[in-house]
Amino acid sequence: MNDKKKLDRRGFLGFATWAIGGIIGAGFGIPAIAYIIAPAMRKEEEQEWIRLGSASKVELGTPTLFKTKIEKQTGWITNEEEVSVYVLTENGRDFVAMSNICTHLGCRVRWISDQDVFFCPCHNAGFAKNGDVASGPPPRPLDQYQVKEEDGQLFVLGG
Ligand code: FES
Repeated sequence: MNDKKKLDRRGFLGFATWAIGGIIGAGFGIPAIAYIIAPAMRKEEEQEWIRLGSASKVELGTPTLFKTKIEKQTGWITNEEEVSVYVLTENGRDFVAMSNICTHLGCRVRWISDQDVFFCPCHNAGFAKNGDVASGPPPRPLDQYQVKEEDGQLFVLGG
């Protein structure tokens, strides 16, 4: 009987040791694991407003190129990426922001002002100044960004 009590006490101490060790291990281990895998589990990209520059730079009726750099994080790796956006306004208040990436195979288009066209040199495509396809193989107009003006600065939503 005395031996049985000793075993019960010994069993309880063993259980308590394991339980306390488990709690301490979980207390340190779970945050450590979360810290390590969090960047890999993060959503692909969360969009944010990217500042382009002063709205006064945009000439009425002429697509104006803005270039800026954004940081993109993929897992543990952070890259700096250049973003180029053409902004068009006809009245100085309403802005259209267009990607400079051709919708055919992804070459960069450039605005040719004396021909009034965005030109893609890869397969001789043309886009009108509002981004509509004017000629060539692109399947759709230039992609557009959501754009806003705040305190004279232009921002596009991207990432
Ligand atoms: S990539 Fe622009 S026309 Fe083909």
